[in-house]
Amino acid sequence: MEIILSPSLLAADFGILKEQITEVEKAGAKYLHLDVMDGIFVSNISFGIPVIEALRKYTNMVFDVHLMITEPQRYIERFIDAGADIVTFHIEATDKIDECINIIRNRGKRAGIAISPNTPAEALYPYLDKIDMALCMTVEPGYGGQKYMPEMESKVTALRERVDKDFLIQVDGGIGEANVLAPVNAGANVIVAGTAVFGGNITENVKGILEKCAQL
Ligand code: DX5
Ligand code: ZN
Repeated sequence: MEIILSPSLLAADFGILKEQITEVEKAGAKYLHLDVMDGIFVSNISFGIPVIEALRKYTNMVFDVHLMITEPQRYIERFIDAGADIVTFHIEATDKIDECINIIRNRGKRAGIAISPNTPAEALYPYLDKIDMALCMTVEPGYGGQKYMPEMESKVTALRERVDKDFLIQVDGGIGEANVLAPVNAGANVIVAGTAVFGGNITENVKGILEKCAQL
């Protein structure tokens, strides 16, 4: 199974974003994870549509947009206009789940649904045949640099049993070279890493994580 690394820009140096994304791309990352926070669904505020639109010009990486915003159906179209290739919204953030999926898919983009640590995997089961990716948070959403929660791995396993091998199962939070094999062995194939990529030597960090996954 191919393992994709999606570095989370949240941990990058925001003063030199263009240089930082060029470096992760050259080092071999295929996706770029873009964490959008509204100060309501999560207490933190990160960045939004204009930043994504500006970065789109500088890279061909897959823009993997993780919306941590309430009522995401209000903004999905605009994130797609800005350059999102995958749009992931939180199941806890809206009652209009089918509407969100339809907006994304009608624009020919890939749809993902995220579950926070307190949400069971079962919440996603009714949607698995309508989406491209399930995102299992391995920390509470809102901040980078938190501690990985291994107890989330059973949710990844339960999801993997219900989908085929091409379906994307993403894990996000507290992951780096030292612990990446645990969620991968559980069935994850898209790995988000923020601090573990942008803290220190970016090229070495990306290669280290990808080489670790290639050992499998
Ligand atoms: C948390 C975000 C994550 C975060 C991961 O709300 O969804 O993508 O940036 O950062 P690390 O890898 O540092 O835990
Ligand atoms: Zn994220």
